[in-house]
Amino acid sequence: MSSRPTVLLVDDEARTLDLLGAVLEHQGLATTLAKSPQDAIRLLRTIEFDAVVTDVVFDGFAEGSLVLAAARDLQPRAVVVLMTGFPDVEAAVAAMKAGAVDYLKKPVDPIVLAAFIHRALQEKQVEKDDLAFADLVEILSSMVAHTIERVDPYTAGHGSRTRKYCRLLAQSLGLEVKRIERLELAAIAHDYGKIYLDDLSFLTKNGPLTDAEFLAVQRHPVLGAKKLGHHPQLAEVRRVIAEHHEKWNGTGYPHKLAGADISQPGRILAVAEVFDSLATKRSYKDVWPLERVVELFVNGRGTHFDPDVIDAWLPMLEEHGARWIRQPMADLEAAGLSVQA
Ligand SMILES: [Fe+2]
Repeated sequence: MSSRPTVLLVDDEARTLDLLGAVLEHQGLATTLAKSPQDAIRLLRTIEFDAVVTDVVFDGFAEGSLVLAAARDLQPRAVVVLMTGFPDVEAAVAAMKAGAVDYLKKPVDPIVLAAFIHRALQEKQVEKDDLAFADLVEILSSMVAHTIERVDPYTAGHGSRTRKYCRLLAQSLGLEVKRIERLELAAIAHDYGKIYLDDLSFLTKNGPLTDAEFLAVQRHPVLGAKKLGHHPQLAEVRRVIAEHHEKWNGTGYPHKLAGADISQPGRILAVAEVFDSLATKRSYKDVWPLERVVELFVNGRGTHFDPDVIDAWLPMLEEHGARWIRQPMADLEAAGLSVQA
């Protein structure tokens, strides 16, 4: 792949095509425009693309499938994304079976589309035979994070930010490199169990959870840990994921562990995860101001949180807190999601 990935963009609405094309160019993608499936197929015969993004319905006919079929036939390595104004499950499943990577509902936010293409291209690299193992782990990690964020889009970037705070805290507390690496994996995947909850609707509902919903949500740490299998190298990662909602004083969940019965990485993740959650607007709450967040950590020292972790954390908040508290908003905006929704 060249430094600027190449994208064939197909849509019969000239304004949409121009707008999407301009933004994709601005977002680092070399874009070629086609205003009909026939134009697109002609281009697919002559130029190689990394990605093909096509409308589904042209002038009332579902000719996007022609573009999809031609792309699969002529350029099997290209990522294909469909844009559709009439998404229904059957059509989506049929498109996936025909080789589309994914589909977006119209109107498509150009910034979301650009992020979507970059992500699909990054994930596609998993298929490379000569990929270094460390790069493979990075890609798989972001795939896990994106899966969780798809279930609850308002958590966009939560995994990678939590990972960063965990790494900084662990370094400051002197954890050895191997343990920091495992903690970082746990930080990315800590909410993975959420995607296996029976009912996902209340993750994004407005207002507080009912008792029954809260009980159901409490299953996610153990569910997530279980889904990581049995490999001994992941034993500590599983443990930390299972522990991320435990509290120092034994009032957390799922096992009401207390003090040193919670692993040190688990105690670090608990602090980092709470910070980023408070800094994030969720469907049920607004962002907390930094002063209130600091107060929560000060008051939670020795009750909710490990005092040693808090002693390492407060100076970091003093130095970086004002910037970090705004980061989730910036990430949401970059993902094209309105923070007012
Ligand atoms: Fe969680």
